[in-house]
Amino acid sequence: MTSFAITPLSDHTGAEVTGLDFNQPIDGDTKATLNRAFVDHHVLVMRDQHFDPNQFKAAVQLFGELQVHDKKEQHVPGYPDVYYVSNDIFVNGKRVIPGETFHTDHSNHPRPPKATTLFAVDLPSSGGDTQYVNMHDAYDDLPASTKQKIDGLKAVHVYQSKYSPRALSGLNDDSRAQLPPPGVHPLVRTHPENGRKALFLNPVRMESIVGMDDADALKLIDGLMQHATQKKYEYRHKWRPGDWVMWDNRSVMHQANPDYDMNERRFLYRLMLKGEVPA
Ligand code: SIN
Repeated sequence: MTSFAITPLSDHTGAEVTGLDFNQPIDGDTKATLNRAFVDHHVLVMRDQHFDPNQFKAAVQLFGELQVHDKKEQHVPGYPDVYYVSNDIFVNGKRVIPGETFHTDHSNHPRPPKATTLFAVDLPSSGGDTQYVNMHDAYDDLPASTKQKIDGLKAVHVYQSKYSPRALSGLNDDSRAQLPPPGVHPLVRTHPENGRKALFLNPVRMESIVGMDDADALKLIDGLMQHATQKKYEYRHKWRPGDWVMWDNRSVMHQANPDYDMNERRFLYRLMLKGEVPA
């Protein structure tokens, strides 16, 4: 097996992988070890990588099958299936920072992506961290009465909820026409690979809870969000040049930070991997 190291970045979430060049062939044992580390640590940080869009796409597929983004138009010029996040996206003259409040990705899909991954191309000189919160630990710590109340509840996830805390940057007609039907997902899901239960929340997309009136649903979601986003559940990633970060949407929520000098460019390639029906 290739010699490399996997080192935890906190006692609950995140691990860094050093000593691997993902532009070189990765053997089967290493691949299995990395996939296990991903489901155990929820966020993997592969240090010191050098990717063009095609190399990034090839490396990501070590972990699964690519999932197309809803917003197909936001791709790296010349690479229709490699997307990006950036601080130079404007809608009606207003800057939109993708992912600015806690969420899990594309939960409006009947089969939301298991993973999302970013590669740092340009970073600001400081700030622009990505925060992750561990939804397994957040679930485990809930009082038994809350667990009883939410186990079995399902929420309807749409492209953008009328209750979303932020506006998404919108879709062109082609992308809108290809949206899937809403995802109807349990508030508590069991991770198919690590076997742990997790809260599955996304205020950007949750439009209702089945069988509950909206005022009660919003109050419940707000309380669960306040609980789940406590600092004790957080791993905060401070980006370094060469970082390739991949997170498990079944285990963590994440958010981007617009706390840096907007005259500096923050640009990262972004891909997602297909997941399964949450259960
Ligand atoms: C995202 O939600 O995918 C963006 C995260 C980031 O830019 O830090």
